[in-house]
Amino acid sequence: MLTGKKILIGISGSIAAYKSILIIRLLIKAGAEVKVVMTPAAKDFVSPLVLSTLSKNDVLCELTNNDSWANHVALGRWADVMLLAPLSCNSLAKMANGICDNLLMAVYLSATCPVIVAPAMDEDMWHHPSTKNNLNRIQSFGNTIIPVESGELASGLFGEGRMAEPEFIISFLEKDFNTPKLLSNKKVLVTAGPTYEAIDPVRYIGNYSSGKMGYAIAESFYNCGADVTLISGPTNLSIHQNIKKINITSSEEMLHQVMLQQQQADIIIMCAAVADYKPSIVASNKIKKNNTNWSLDLEKTTDILFELGKIKATHQTLIGFALETNNELDNAKEKLKNKNLDAIILNKFNQNNPVFGSDENEITIIESSNATHRFGPKTKKALAQDIVQFIISNKLHEEV
Ligand code: C5P
Repeated sequence: MLTGKKILIGISGSIAAYKSILIIRLLIKAGAEVKVVMTPAAKDFVSPLVLSTLSKNDVLCELTNNDSWANHVALGRWADVMLLAPLSCNSLAKMANGICDNLLMAVYLSATCPVIVAPAMDEDMWHHPSTKNNLNRIQSFGNTIIPVESGELASGLFGEGRMAEPEFIISFLEKDFNTPKLLSNKKVLVTAGPTYEAIDPVRYIGNYSSGKMGYAIAESFYNCGADVTLISGPTNLSIHQNIKKINITSSEEMLHQVMLQQQQADIIIMCAAVADYKPSIVASNKIKKNNTNWSLDLEKTTDILFELGKIKATHQTLIGFALETNNELDNAKEKLKNKNLDAIILNKFNQNNPVFGSDENEITIIESSNATHRFGPKTKKALAQDIVQFIISNKLHEEV
């Protein structure tokens, strides 16, 4: 329900600005209060007169106007949500870099409410690496991105980059307002990424884990209101600024940090691909190449999850991951039992589903009763939502 919600719409210079007229109409019809801020470039695409008539409020564009000053701080504080639709490539780049050269950017930078953006651009701009970087950056600041659509573009080409349709944007807002924060009193600890086990100052033993699944899980828990701590091995990913992130490199550092954090956690998800073995001796100087073969003496790392299972408190839910290449289900069930877990998530691993590095995955959640539930193939972000929903609906997070 959007009745009584205060929605601040930011419009930037894009052909899709014409759709903002319909967005405002739909919001007003739904009973929301709407104010509009636009960039100077947006005025070339849509008339402020139409927008002010529909929104029933003055439309603001300039930081200063003759002898008056637009109070961007007050606007950012007035809103329950700020929606930037359409968000042009240029305004996206400014958001990513904190550039404050117009009223819309000043309002965005002072907004204390959640910010949702609906990007709109031509396909080649959409696929440019700088656009991807900027989107990742603004997402890591905590902004939510409404996915673009594929279809006919202003250039006449067909492809990705079209702004989502007004009806979709409205239902996205409704969903966002109505998602109950079911885990708002829970502390969650998530581990993600690989560990690097040093051989010498320049070499290590590692694995292909990208950290994408763990980061997505951390964000899904955060979206359900949980207080989330993420312990991450080396990755090139960024995370919402309200999630506490602790960077580690080796399994030993991960063990140390997990043990420091575990007591406060109600839910622990060990998604990290922790190395099972590490070099017994770490050489202090780079090991020289010679003409013979080289063998390394390896020793077992501490199984962190196993240690957590031994000390699991009654209020705690402990969930691990498994990746198996044979006898998948049986091996995962054995780990579930041996490590005293409440559930284990088995990755499907084959040529079509390489798991590591991919944006998509297929999983099976196995409960301690041995009941199995399959999810996917779908994006890791969608699977992360499934995992969190599964924990909530099966009451795995509640004390027994
Ligand atoms: O026994 P296996 O390594 O296959 O179990 C995988 C699960 O155990 C994952 O949840 C992983 O994060 C965790 N693990 C761990 N410490 C290790 C190795 C794996 O916590 N040294």
